[in-house]
Formats: sequence, C-alpha cells, structure tokens
Amino acid sequence: MNNGDPDAGGPADAGPRADSAARNHETNAGNDVIEAGAPTPVKYRCLWTPFDAEMRDAMLRPTPGPVYYDGPEVEALEREAAAYLGVARGVGVSSGTTALYLAMLAMGIGPGDEVVCAANGYLSGPECAIHAGAKPVYCDVLEATANMDARTVEPVLSPRTKAIVAVHLYGHPVDMDPLMELARRRGIFVIEDLAHAFGGRYKGRPLGSIGDASFTSFARKGVTVAGQGGMAFTSEPEWAHRMSLLRRHGWERGHAYRSRLSLVGFNHTLSESLAAVGRVSLSRLDRYNAVRRENARRYTAGLTARGLGAAVPVEMPWASHAWLHYVIRVPRRDGLIAFLSERGIGAGIHYKHPVYREPAYVARTGEDPGPRPVTDRIVTEIVTLPSHPDMGDGIDYVLDQVAEFYGGRLDAAGEPAAAAR
Ligand SMILES: Cc1ncc(COP(=O)(O)O)c(C=O)c1O
Repeated sequence: MNNGDPDAGGPADAGPRADSAARNHETNAGNDVIEAGAPTPVKYRCLWTPFDAEMRDAMLRPTPGPVYYDGPEVEALEREAAAYLGVARGVGVSSGTTALYLAMLAMGIGPGDEVVCAANGYLSGPECAIHAGAKPVYCDVLEATANMDARTVEPVLSPRTKAIVAVHLYGHPVDMDPLMELARRRGIFVIEDLAHAFGGRYKGRPLGSIGDASFTSFARKGVTVAGQGGMAFTSEPEWAHRMSLLRRHGWERGHAYRSRLSLVGFNHTLSESLAAVGRVSLSRLDRYNAVRRENARRYTAGLTARGLGAAVPVEMPWASHAWLHYVIRVPRRDGLIAFLSERGIGAGIHYKHPVYREPAYVARTGEDPGPRPVTDRIVTEIVTLPSHPDMGDGIDYVLDQVAEFYGGRLDAAGEPAAAAR
C-alpha cells in the first residue's frame, strides 16, 4: 500500500514491520502511519509532511474570518513564493496538476497542439495536455540524470509542438540553457515542473524562473501545506491574470458574484488555512533543503564506503539539486524494497510505470509511442530512499540495511551492476 500517496508508486510501503533497530530511530513520529493489523509503523518514508505547533497556529489564523479560500493568506503565499523564485506572479490553486492545467489554458494550449512530456515523468504533464485538448508526446531522458534534455526533446518536436513540460525530476535541474535555446528557435513555450525542485538552482538561477511559466505542488513536497495545493508562476501578466480568473469561475479576485465573466472558469481555489501553513513551510525551505543536501551527501559517502558507489545519483557541475528524492539505481530492486519494508523503511519508486505507456493515455491519443529505451531501463532499477529533514541518524540505519541486502556488492547473485551505465 502507499498510504494514498499520489507520488509514492510501487510496493514500497507494503507490509510495514519495523524491527527493533528501526524502533530505535523514532525521529518521524508525527508522520508514522500504522496499518490495520500491523504491529509497528513505517519509520522512514519518502514523502514527509511536517506538522507542528507553529503550523497549527498558522492554520487557525484565518478562522474565524470572512474568507476561507483565495484570501489574504493565499495572496501572501503567492507574493512570498514568487519573490523567492524572482518571478512576477504566483497563482495559488488546489493542486500542482491544477496549476499546470490552468497554465496550459492561459497560454492558449489546446486542440491541434502537441506538448512534450518526459517519458518517465509524473502523470500531470500528459493528463493536463489531454484535458486541454492537446496531444502529449514523449521524450526519452538522459542516462546520467534521468532528466529530459534538448538532445532527447528535439527528435520528438513537430510543427505542432506548442510547449515542453520540463520536469526537474527528483530535484535535479534539467539543463535549461540548451532547452530554452531550442524552444526559442522553434517558437515553443517551456513550462517548468518544480514539484521536486523548489529551491533548486541552475547556474545560480532559481528553478522555476527560467521557463515561460512554472508550477509546483504543495502536497508533501519541499513546500508543503499539510494537504493539497499548488501554484503556477509566470512573469507574463496576461497569463497570470487569465490563470487567476480560471481559478474561480472567471471572477476577478474580490469581485465574486459581481463581475461579469470573460471566460469559462472552474473552482480550483486554495484554502486560506492551507496557504497559512505553506507560508511557514516556505520560510523553512532553505533550511530543510540544506538538510536534504546533507542527507544526500551522507547517503552517497555511505554507499560508496560500503562498496555500493555505482548506485548513487549525480549532481551536474552546473546544478544545485533540491534533493527532494534521493534515488539510487540498483539490481534486484523489488527485493531490496521488500527487504527495507521489513525493516521499517518505506522506500519508493518514482515512478514505477512509465507515464508514456499508461493505457488510458495511449487509448486517448490512439497511438503507441513505441519504446523509450533509457526510461524503460531506468524504471526497473530506481529506488527512492527516505531522506526527509528529520531523519537524523536514520540515514545510517537505512545505509546499513541496503548494505546488508547487497553484502557490499551490487552485482551479487550475477545481476548486472547499475554501474554499467
Ligand atoms: C513531478 C511532479 N509533478 C507534478 C505533480 C502534481 O502535483 P499535485 O499532486 O499537487 O497535483 C507531482 C505530484 O506528486 C509531481 O511529483
């Protein structure tokens, strides 16, 4: 089971049964989920929602009040998040997926258009493209970073390509300069997916400020609202205005029921109490990302010291990784996940089923896109190790379990080593 987690994937959280060693590492008590019949909780998991007194107090701040959604707290979070990224506008909405969808509509993406999505990315890209009436097309990714790249995007472009959804997967930046150069040359929009990468940088520039628009999720990501939420960002005033109208039935903010409608909208607002939590979370982002970075350093050093260095993720010289997910590539992946689960470790797979082969999307587009060889290989090898900011020495505990499973050799039992890449 994955605790209803939209971003977990795979058998990672199946059958929690922490042993006594795991019980000695109770650093995440507020996030433990105890399954019916399971005697002990999963101690460490990939996705993390801190919720403490400061957040609870913030959550109560807007109530009782005249506005429960899309009010002053949402406006403040929009201002603060946009300022953090250095973009002109943020539009707070009900989820990251909604943010992407409204961005696509505001940018005029629709029937007859194609949208490039990463073959190994999250569902939102193709989902939103299809709902907007456009067709998702899928690029493969680079072996080293598991990210899309100008070199993998260019072969799937056509005269109908209107946009590229650039997913900074796991928090590692896409190589944006060549991608933007390609997109500019072909007259294509770039929308950055920041869900894993809030706080990451590319050549010193904040991710989310480089493309034509960007969006993030607030559901158990770097900035969290203790619920569902998301935000779209752009410095293009007309798009920002349109997104804000689409968010609430086409009304101008503050003029609900009064202003007449210039477009057909939805109801995709963000709640005030959630936005208030998001503001606390945003204020901690750099501190928590620094801990995630230190966790990654410890994992990489620890795996290398234990003879498992071939499994570790890279950080390109031009990249400042946000490290939302620490993802290793290993043989006997499913065995490792089951082994870790028995020791109270909820490892994950981001993502188990390549999005480009989702039957529902293939049925909608009526087209089998054919293989994406790097994606197809990567999805059988990836494991996300828990790396949340309050893990502390839990990192060493996870390292010891991974080392025990492999006995210090990734190619044990004759499996191909992940190093061969
Ligand atoms: C990479 C990525 N993009 C987009 C989304 C969509 O965000 P939401 O779940 O808030 O709709 C997610 C959610 O997990 C994600 O991981």
